[in-house]
Amino acid sequence: MKIEVFFSPSQIDDLFLRDKNVVVIDVLRASTTVITALNNGAREIIPVNTIESAVKVSGNLFGDVVLRGGERNGKMIEGFNLGNSPFEYTADAVKGKSIILCTSNGSPAMWKARYAKNLLITGFVNVSAVVERTKEIKDDIYILCAGKNTQFCMEDAVSAGMIIKQLMEDDQEFEFNDSAVAAHALYKNANRNLLKMARTSEHGKYLVEIGFGKDLEFCTGIDMFDVVPELVGNVLKLKKKSDVVVPPHAPISIDPAGGEGE
Ligand code: MLT
Repeated sequence: MKIEVFFSPSQIDDLFLRDKNVVVIDVLRASTTVITALNNGAREIIPVNTIESAVKVSGNLFGDVVLRGGERNGKMIEGFNLGNSPFEYTADAVKGKSIILCTSNGSPAMWKARYAKNLLITGFVNVSAVVERTKEIKDDIYILCAGKNTQFCMEDAVSAGMIIKQLMEDDQEFEFNDSAVAAHALYKNANRNLLKMARTSEHGKYLVEIGFGKDLEFCTGIDMFDVVPELVGNVLKLKKKSDVVVPPHAPISIDPAGGEGE
């Protein structure tokens, strides 16, 4: 099983990710926000790559069941309902809503992976749930870090490294690319104090500067949520068990009670 990490979406094009199993990470903060919103009952998240697309996609329903969320330079975009702080995505604000999400790096990375066979969203807050889901997929995994302005960013790389660390706990053969090996090394170096790592990262420092220091604590909380946002059609949702495609090579046995089980 191959595990490849890409530290920035600029390293690959949309077609490379087509029909692959892709995990997108934007710890600070878009993926953490998506996970939080869906955990708090949002109906779906539609990631877009430009403000114009957000306005177009939200159409006539805007403001009723459809909200626009996102940021530029970390702050809410004019004419939007929500910014990109996970603290804004409370059950009160998002329950039952479709949210069009437009952020600087995170939502474009999600959008870039729109042709993936399976697209999962992760951060520290749901790492174990995502690792479990990748084990169900039982196929090569491509981890795409959103990075910052086409460059490497530390918190996404460390989060990728944490996935690799958890996968390696299983007695299985993996083939890692060099970025995956580097991400694992960075994780080993940072795991004792993820909050410190986030506070000393470029984007973390910027968020503290503009008043979002609390977001760093939230975004570095490990396994706060047991949910995995996945792409269904062109929206991110929490898949129901019945939506999950069983790989053809997975053994299916019929249990004596008449149900299907492994
Ligand atoms: C991004 O997409 O670059 C971010 O999530 C920025 C942020 O809001 O912190």
